Amino acid sequence: MPAPSEFLTYIDTHADQFINGRLTEAVKKPSISTDPNHRQDDIDMGLWIKDQLESFGLTTTAIDLGPQMNDGQTVMKGDEPLQLPYLILGRAGEDPEKKTVLVYCHYDVQPADMKDGWKYDPWTLTETSTHQLYGRGSTDDKGPLCGWLNVLEAHKNCNLDLPVNLRFCFEGMEESDSEGLDNWIIAEAKKPNHGWFAGVNCVCITDNYWLNTRSPCLTYGVRGVVAFDLNIAGPQADLHSGLFGGMVYEPMTDLVHIMSKLVAPNGRILIPNIYDGTSLQPGEKEEYEKLDWTLDDLKEITGTDVALYDDKASELMGRMRFPSLSLHGINGAYSDSGFKTVIPHSVTGKFSVRIVPPQDPKQIAKLVEDYVKQEWALLQSKGSMSITTSGEGKPWIANNQDWHFSAAAKATYEIYQTQPDLTREGGSVPVTVTFSEALGSNVSVLLLPMGRSDDGAHSTNEKIDRANFIGGSKLFGAYLYEVAAATISS
Ligand code: BES
Ligand code: MN
Ligand code: MN
Repeated sequence: MPAPSEFLTYIDTHADQFINGRLTEAVKKPSISTDPNHRQDDIDMGLWIKDQLESFGLTTTAIDLGPQMNDGQTVMKGDEPLQLPYLILGRAGEDPEKKTVLVYCHYDVQPADMKDGWKYDPWTLTETSTHQLYGRGSTDDKGPLCGWLNVLEAHKNCNLDLPVNLRFCFEGMEESDSEGLDNWIIAEAKKPNHGWFAGVNCVCITDNYWLNTRSPCLTYGVRGVVAFDLNIAGPQADLHSGLFGGMVYEPMTDLVHIMSKLVAPNGRILIPNIYDGTSLQPGEKEEYEKLDWTLDDLKEITGTDVALYDDKASELMGRMRFPSLSLHGINGAYSDSGFKTVIPHSVTGKFSVRIVPPQDPKQIAKLVEDYVKQEWALLQSKGSMSITTSGEGKPWIANNQDWHFSAAAKATYEIYQTQPDLTREGGSVPVTVTFSEALGSNVSVLLLPMGRSDDGAHSTNEKIDRANFIGGSKLFGAYLYEVAAATISS
């Protein structure tokens, strides 16, 4: 059943208000979850969403997830425990005759600073003459979240009944490893009838992107991730390299040596057994050949040719199908410009491994830690080494041929007049796995992206195209109607 034309028309005729009102208001709030100094902004963002939901007649709850913890200790801000932002829940509809759809987005964002090279103030949504809407969170994940609010507003103001019961779960800590979320979901889902999740038939996660800049997709997999901090410490304080170079073991030298043993410049991970269980099945490669993507799509985003492989399927599989290891940075290393000849006394290398089914974060963490310890022993350095994980998420893959995917594909066709590609994400959305496991195999989960591949989530000049924000809002609505009309089957 296609969405009613009043709904689609409402979205079109209110596009300017959605952009200059709602999305602009949302982007204005620097809800940076990684920065305790912005915690109040993050909390305020959640409460703003709660108000919006209530104005459309939804029942809401702000779940207090308690104080932020670190290694079993309460994190303090001044004299007060640092509160986690609320999990904002919203419910519309209790009709047992209707299906029930659970929607997830996050309202926190990555940091952003004009100094990093933004063209416009990251907290002031700015539309260009070619209709890109620039601002932090525009695509990750405030645009999609506002898209759902647009759907609710349109239904209220057009006096349309929602075709399904809706359950919204909006999180404010996603960019900080979703602290508190999994425990809450798992505990709630264990209650009789799955508690707050009672009756949920399917889950729609709107927190990813198209594979390219042209065509919509549906996503049936995400990679997991394990992030590591590798610390090497030596002398008590930084030393002058003229006075001590040539006399002492240097933490940076040790660290760079070990980091060089993790991954080769051709992208190959050097840790033994890390690819175990991930070999290709016959015919799999061909699936990747079919996707609407070329090496030029990559070049367009990276600005120059930096591809690891010269064929499309290998590139796509590098991101979607196989683990990868990236080196992110070194804390404590001297990084200012100019000439300073210091020997840093303690440095922490940061790297992460993206993992795929059937790999498990704990198993990969052990593999990596054992390997690093072994490499460290070989160095026979007099420094000290420790390695810890700083975040993790499980990988996920779903059946992309069930009733739910069919409904989402139909909706996509109605809005974009093209069949969506079926993709797996290279990025990680750990809550996908949590919902899937907690709600059981009768509940189908998918990711329904709004933005494009070149939106620049986490980067400078993050944007969403007007066409995607408006088209995506229509798509979310159309999806609800197709879900309502579908017959549940596996
Ligand atoms: N929206 C992203 C996830 C994502 C990234 C989807 C790339 C598709 C492509 C999400 O907000 C995110 O940044 N996730 C983190 C997870 C981590 C904090 C556990 C990621 O992937 O690094
Ligand atoms: Mn996101
Ligand atoms: Mn993100």
